[in-house]
Amino acid sequence: MPATDAAGSPVVELVNVSRRFITPDGKSMTAIRDFNMSVARGEFVAVVGPTGCGKSTTLNLVTGLARPSSGEVRLFGQALLKRAPA
Ligand SMILES: Nc1ncnc2c1ncn2[C@@H]1O[C@H](COP(=O)(O)OP(=O)(O)OP(=O)(O)O)[C@@H](O)[C@H]1O
Ligand SMILES: [Mg+2]
Repeated sequence: MPATDAAGSPVVELVNVSRRFITPDGKSMTAIRDFNMSVARGEFVAVVGPTGCGKSTTLNLVTGLARPSSGEVRLFGQALLKRAPA
């Protein structure tokens, strides 16, 4: 069953989110690919993983400091930001 708030939407939702960066040598690198997660109201979530796995990138997307290259971040069922320009 999906995690939902009282109104029926997850508090935080990442739907098929990918985030790519251009490296200093001009190559495209994918930090997060097709990532999905859902956080319900009152739920405690920890983001854990080895260095470079995309924790800070994920949190930057959830807080709106960065935009996904594809996919969508939703807060209370509303799209947070449109995706980054191609
Ligand atoms: N602005 C950027 N430009 C290019 N590559 C980036 C950029 N930001 C992150 N990356 C790359 O994306 C990947 C994920 O980085 P991120 O900082 O999200 O990892 P992290 O899990 O927070 O690591 P750490 O535990 O070291 O903080 C890494 O390979 C990193 O080098
Ligand atoms: Mg980090």
